[in-house]
Amino acid sequence: MGGGLVVTATGGRSTDYNSKPTVYVFVLCLVASSAGALFGYDLGITGGVTSMPNFLEKFFPSTYAKNQEHQALIDGGEIANNPYCTYNDMKLQAFTSTLFLSGLVFAIIANWSTKWYGRRFTMITAGAAFIVGAFLMAFAQNLPMLVVGRAFLGWGVGFANQSAPLYLSEMAPAQLRGALNIGFQMATTLGILVAGLINYGTQHMDKPGQLAGWRLSVGLAIVPALVLFFGGLLLPDTPNGLISRGKVQEGRRVLERVRGTKSVDAEFTDICEAVEVSKAISGKWRALFSKKYRGVLAVSVLIPFFQQFSGINTIMFYAAELFQVLGSGQNSSLLNTVIIGAVNVASTVVAIVMVDRFGRKLLFVEGGIQMLVCFIAVAAIMGASFNTQTGHIANGPAAAIIVFECLFTAGFAWSWGPLGWLVPSEVHSIETRSLGMSIATCSNFLFSFIIGQWYLTMLCSMEYGTYIFFAFWVVMMTLYVIFFLPETKGVPVEEMGFIWRRHWFWKNVIMTPAERAAFEKGDVTATGMTAAEIEGDLPGKASDAAVPQVARLSMAGEYVKPANAPEALGAVNTINTDYKV
Ligand code: BGC
Repeated sequence: MGGGLVVTATGGRSTDYNSKPTVYVFVLCLVASSAGALFGYDLGITGGVTSMPNFLEKFFPSTYAKNQEHQALIDGGEIANNPYCTYNDMKLQAFTSTLFLSGLVFAIIANWSTKWYGRRFTMITAGAAFIVGAFLMAFAQNLPMLVVGRAFLGWGVGFANQSAPLYLSEMAPAQLRGALNIGFQMATTLGILVAGLINYGTQHMDKPGQLAGWRLSVGLAIVPALVLFFGGLLLPDTPNGLISRGKVQEGRRVLERVRGTKSVDAEFTDICEAVEVSKAISGKWRALFSKKYRGVLAVSVLIPFFQQFSGINTIMFYAAELFQVLGSGQNSSLLNTVIIGAVNVASTVVAIVMVDRFGRKLLFVEGGIQMLVCFIAVAAIMGASFNTQTGHIANGPAAAIIVFECLFTAGFAWSWGPLGWLVPSEVHSIETRSLGMSIATCSNFLFSFIIGQWYLTMLCSMEYGTYIFFAFWVVMMTLYVIFFLPETKGVPVEEMGFIWRRHWFWKNVIMTPAERAAFEKGDVTATGMTAAEIEGDLPGKASDAAVPQVARLSMAGEYVKPANAPEALGAVNTINTDYKV
């Protein structure tokens, strides 16, 4: 049944947008994506550096001693420790995880920074924090200096990961939003790969009098940081950011420039209205925790949680350590990391091609099943073939573990990797979108911190069972997607309200019986909210002044024109409301 609902309102005008992609918008998005490259570079550099002997010797001497012992064992010595525990060092893990702890705090601050000072300012600040962090790390003399350096990088990541996806979504023309958003993840995976290659190249730089390889590895983060900082200075802020800070004319000028045309009335008015509506709703924090937003709040918290508890970062952070535990030399451990990094990049391209064609849920479920099978296989092979007495595993099973880790990474890279950032950024209505993105970033960093801080300890105590633990969570997340996540493919962001109100489970949570009845009768706005919801019990209640600006259908389906809608926008459009959930 094709549901043709006649409205002209926030979102319903999207067919009037004049949004042909311009070279300018591609250049802007390329610069903003360098934020993703920085994130990826930081993710990728850590695991490799922490497996380098001269780095360990300087900052983590006890881990270094255990590592030496382990190497001796591989060369035929006697075993003193469980090899699974070689890298079980809280301080070493803190080196990896502090980035996320600090990132978490700064992701919250970024919510205000993007709102008060703009997306552009927040990205430039992220670039500056990265420059300071990379500098401190490259010249670190002791552990505190190293940790402070990581904290600055966390500042950068917190600011960059909250603001850059917002910047991309707001700058991108609607029909390219999905692909450009995944561009951020693409840059992330490229950053991870480049970091792996650099680690591979610098690992042998440890001769006396020579610059230590790890210093070069961590210091090179300065290159994408400079691109983000200086590139950011040349970027304009987004029209949405400018208009919400009262710079309406400047916002319009930027919109005309990025769209390459003067006829941007429809999109311009949508942005103005959306900004008005969002301003009118006070107490956003409270609103987000009310019943009406339960489904989107679940997405903001759970999708990043599941993304991290898939166990991906056991590979991204610590694959080199795992391969050393299993007896590979440092050289081949880092090479394996590079191979996994390349698979990660290539598979992200698959996501870009598939996501708007086959939908989010199909990718999520296929990726989940693939990841499940791979981790069960890794656990089985490790359990059966790794001899903890000799610290050795035969070549065949070792190769099989690498193959399954690659297949796991591929499954993640075309599903939970990009969708873990895309879906939380698109399910929200305008009034909670920015805050929702802050919460999603925080959730991601909190659980990245937990994995970064405890994986090596888990590996020490649960051994190969660690992978069964993650496999359990992969089952949970796949079930969540099947039963509780609506499909968002092809749904304009302003019309997300419909899919939540049609979902078999969430419709009973977010609407009262009376609201459900009104919704079923078609008494809805273009955003899917019932008129009763808008006027009555919207949490934080929209101000009276704002309500008339939201065009809506009356009970009889008659179009109610916003009091101050520009005449040019009088045309009535048809939007498709027959979304499959
Ligand atoms: C995740 C990171 C992960 C990366 C791997 C991102 O989407 O948030 O935690 O390391 O993907 O490509």
